[in-house]
Amino acid sequence: MLRAILRAGLAAGAIVAASAAFADDDVVNIGLILPMTGQAASTGKQEQAGAQLYLQQHGASVAGKKIALIIKDDGGAADVTKRLAQELIGNDKAKALMGFGLTPLALAVAPVATEAKVPEIVTAAATAMITEKSPYIVRTSFTLPQAAAPMAEWSLKNGIHKVVTFVTDYGPGNDAEKWFSDTFTKGGGTVVEQIRAPLKNPDFAPFLQRVKDDAPDAVFVFVPSGQGSAFMKQFAERGLDKSGIKLIGTGDVTDDDLLADIGDPALGAVTTHHYSVAHPSPENKAFVEAFKKANGGLRPNFMAVAAYDGMALVYGALEKTKGATDGDALIEAMKGASWISPRGPVSIDPQTRDIIQNIYVRKVEKVDGELYNVEFSTIEAVKDPFKAAKN
Ligand code: DHB
Repeated sequence: MLRAILRAGLAAGAIVAASAAFADDDVVNIGLILPMTGQAASTGKQEQAGAQLYLQQHGASVAGKKIALIIKDDGGAADVTKRLAQELIGNDKAKALMGFGLTPLALAVAPVATEAKVPEIVTAAATAMITEKSPYIVRTSFTLPQAAAPMAEWSLKNGIHKVVTFVTDYGPGNDAEKWFSDTFTKGGGTVVEQIRAPLKNPDFAPFLQRVKDDAPDAVFVFVPSGQGSAFMKQFAERGLDKSGIKLIGTGDVTDDDLLADIGDPALGAVTTHHYSVAHPSPENKAFVEAFKKANGGLRPNFMAVAAYDGMALVYGALEKTKGATDGDALIEAMKGASWISPRGPVSIDPQTRDIIQNIYVRKVEKVDGELYNVEFSTIEAVKDPFKAAKN
């Protein structure tokens, strides 16, 4: 009784949805911690929908265990993420934690995962070094070096010589800037200027004026999921879309979820990324159809797919351990796991616990009146180059 009251008090405003959470040995509680409110709320919404779709399609049981998803809102604040992780492990006996919408939120949980020996499945955050912060971290999203280096390779082969980089100033933006610039410069390209905008409430306009003044062949962009719309609108308002400066980047800026809102200024943008809603595979067609049906027509983006795959990873691991939930056994079972995702074939690198996946080169085009990132070239089975460079 006392515990119930305490928990209700602590959880006020935090629990947005929860399948009944049992203490029963047959139930495996999975804590899904997401920014459901605040600046990164679109990531939370997509991730929640992706994880719930997996549960709905595959049933809430595997290897003789019942699966319960406990979803918590951290509002994008790292101290809250950490507290929720501790509560999920301490009170709810969660056997895996998933989600983490931004790099600082994933990092805040690393020491908790290590101490409790509970897998931390990173399904959103994408700074390369995250997986090095705990042996219990496994990632199903991507890394910025994985997505950004192929953009430089493509640019070098496609008449782009002078580039300005424009990134959000924190972990993933700094990774994107470094891996695009180093790869591009090594191949003979010139990076004219490197511009960084703040993560919180950015006004892109003054930075975009600098891009215009530099008059490069292209501007390479990273902004986190959800900010692409504001960026692209200001890009168009400044007349950059008509200035002959090509827009290139990682696919975060031409987020599938935002393309309809951005509209025609997005046309022609070339990006490299691991998922497009237009990926032409039977698995993706089925995924997109089911996702839209379950979410009032919402398009899934790369965040939804990574959460869907996070669930696939947990289900696969529980099958391998025959339902054993010991953290070390689960992590061992996740290393080397491979499956067909809506994004294409994927596997977990047993050395780094990062995802190995195809990176696609895509161009925003109008298909049947709607904008899509249309894939036109594939680089197969890309490992995170940040870790590959160290080994
Ligand atoms: C991160 C967040 C994003 O929304 C994204 O698209 C890529 C990376 C991050 O904080 O790691």
